[in-house]
Amino acid sequence: MIPNMWYVILASREVKAGRMVAVRRFGEKLVAWRTPEGALSLLADQCPHRGVAFSGKSEAHDRAALTRNLATGGPAAARIQDGCLVCPFHGFAFDTVGKCRAIPANGKTAEPPRGFKAKSYPVREANGFIYAWYGETREEYPPIPWFEAIGPGYSVTTFFDPWATHYSRGLENQLDVVHLPFVHHNTIGRGNATLVHGPVVRLEPRPGGHDLMNLWVRNEKDRGQPPLRAAELPVPERHPFLQFLFPNLWHNWITDKLRLVGAFVPVDEGHMMLYLQTHQKFLTAPLLRGPVDLMLRYMNLVIERQDKRIVETQAPKRSDLKGGEQLIPGDGPIIEYRRRRQSLIDAARRSP
Ligand code: FES
Ligand SMILES: [Fe+2]
Repeated sequence: MIPNMWYVILASREVKAGRMVAVRRFGEKLVAWRTPEGALSLLADQCPHRGVAFSGKSEAHDRAALTRNLATGGPAAARIQDGCLVCPFHGFAFDTVGKCRAIPANGKTAEPPRGFKAKSYPVREANGFIYAWYGETREEYPPIPWFEAIGPGYSVTTFFDPWATHYSRGLENQLDVVHLPFVHHNTIGRGNATLVHGPVVRLEPRPGGHDLMNLWVRNEKDRGQPPLRAAELPVPERHPFLQFLFPNLWHNWITDKLRLVGAFVPVDEGHMMLYLQTHQKFLTAPLLRGPVDLMLRYMNLVIERQDKRIVETQAPKRSDLKGGEQLIPGDGPIIEYRRRRQSLIDAARRSP
């Protein structure tokens, strides 16, 4: 994990008004919940009074199920009342930023002590996603990362899938231009273009280290020609084929009217969630949009499952800059990602 960044952690629609879901993110048990008016909150799934889980789920409770974003409820789970999450054990009430607003045993008229707080995470919502801040509390936070190259007017459809690997492996797979003719030989990698030129990678700094990586791919059928190194290739005039935004967002610029966005959501050291959004504007008429989006979702699921099968077998689960892998020039984007990630982690360690 790179500290002090905004991470996409959920799709907005997963957390309904007046409801709570239990999730595992950043290796921690969390609850995401909303007031009936729609205000969003993300708290550690542990009451600061005597340690009960707001979700009503114990640590041992089906860990894998936690990665699937469990809706919660029942007598052992917190309820939402008057804009607060009310703990099932002794009824203490916590607002959306975790501040304790009521302690029934102390009486209605007593103010809870000022520092009485549940651990909370700053959250933002945009682009169909929920972002959470992972790191130290700040006076001011940088803007959340998003791709300006995706304008308005798209029909968006999202699905998610848990992967049994660290999120770094999932996202590196989407920067891996070498695997296409092998893993996807019968889908997007048809044509046996095994020879990899470059690829050309350009990193653009962004506020808060949410840097943008632009990537141009030029794979060809091998006719005996030598591959060109990235330094031998000009930066193409056309828009980048792939973009990556630190720490966990990816954009496949298929055509101007068809885009794919992936969010690689950290669950824990051995698990991640992949969120895939398809953005299309070639058929947005109300009656056609539904079937088109459904078909695109299905196609993406087929391709995504081809990746998942392979990537889940990679060892170790978490990638590393000095992980001992023997890389080749075609792995350039992955190397670039690992370098930049390491320098962001080092910078966060050095910061006071
Ligand atoms: S443990 Fe939550 S109110 Fe006591
Ligand atoms: Fe792939």
